[in-house]
Amino acid sequence: MAILEIIDVPHPTLKMRAKEVAANEINDDLRRFIEDMLETMKEAPGVGLAAPQVNVSKRILVADPSSEDVAYGPMALINPEIIEMSGENCFEEGCLSVPEFRAEIKRSKRVKVRYLDIWGKEQIIEDEGFLAIILQHEIDHLNGITMLDHVSPMKRMMYLKKIKKIQKKEKQAVTS
Ligand code: NI
Repeated sequence: MAILEIIDVPHPTLKMRAKEVAANEINDDLRRFIEDMLETMKEAPGVGLAAPQVNVSKRILVADPSSEDVAYGPMALINPEIIEMSGENCFEEGCLSVPEFRAEIKRSKRVKVRYLDIWGKEQIIEDEGFLAIILQHEIDHLNGITMLDHVSPMKRMMYLKKIKKIQKKEKQAVTS
C-alpha cells in the first residue's frame, strides 16, 4: 500500500469533470489504487477522498463516516450517482484539498446514491446523516466542484490569495 499525494486548490485537476470508470477497468490494479486511496484518507486524516484529489480524474470516491456514525465503516464507490435527494442540511465542512478553510455548506439532508462496488456490482446506499454530507462533498469533487464554489466570490478570492502566499512560503522552505 502507498500513501498518495493529495493536491490542493487551485490545481486544474480539481476543476475537471472526472471520467466514468469502464466495467473492464474494475480489476486488481484499480482495487489496489482504491486501497491506496483508503490508506491516504486514513493517514491524512480525513472522512472522505475523491480520486481527483490524488490527481486521478476518475469517478471513484472513498469515505469513512465511522467517527460520527458507527453504522458504517470505510467504503469505496465507483461511478456514484445521486438518484434521489430531499430536505436541507447545513454543516461546517473542511476539505483535504482546501487547507485551512472551513465553511458552512448547504446541502440536501437525505440522498440515495447508486454506484458500483469494487467488484463491479451495482449497489444503492441511502443516508440522511454524516455519510450523506460526505457523499455530496465527494461527488462534487468528481464534478470539478470544491467547497470554494459554494461560498461567495469574495470569500473565495480572499482564500485563494491567502493560500497562494502560504504555498509560496512552503515552496521557499523546501528549496532553501
Ligand atoms: Ni474535499
